[in-house]
Amino acid sequence: MQVDIGIDAKTRNDIASGLSKVLADTYTLYLKSHNFHWNVTGRMFQTLHLMFEQHYNELALAVDEIAERIRALGFPAPGTYRQFAALSSIEEDDGVPTALEMVRLLVAGHETVARTAREVFKVAEAANDQPTCDLLTQRMQVHEKTAWMLRSLLEE
Ligand SMILES: [Fe+2]
Repeated sequence: MQVDIGIDAKTRNDIASGLSKVLADTYTLYLKSHNFHWNVTGRMFQTLHLMFEQHYNELALAVDEIAERIRALGFPAPGTYRQFAALSSIEEDDGVPTALEMVRLLVAGHETVARTAREVFKVAEAANDQPTCDLLTQRMQVHEKTAWMLRSLLEE
């Protein structure tokens, strides 16, 4: 059956394409956070190991919400590492960064997802797509708050 929710197919496609980028960014940041949870060392080990775990757990739930919004709009959700690598704006890291470098990389990652979500928000807002606007607002809130908390670790 055709999707008939009051947003035309071309616009739904535009929104789904934007959400696919948010999904790819979020999945890449999920993996980065989990990687850093495993590999962090140093005096801040306990704090960062636990904090990164909270982050990847939150991101794992978020990818499901984003993918299912793409499905509700009538399009397939990307779900392979190849697709995510092509769609993501977040770089993967080589080797094991120092603890403070991990924090910096995660600040940058959270800020990147916030920027991607903010771009897609414009498209969703113009299309009167409230559920996508709501989802993106929640995601921006989480990423901006998390970026602030991580950034605070870098200050004296
Ligand atoms: Fe663990």
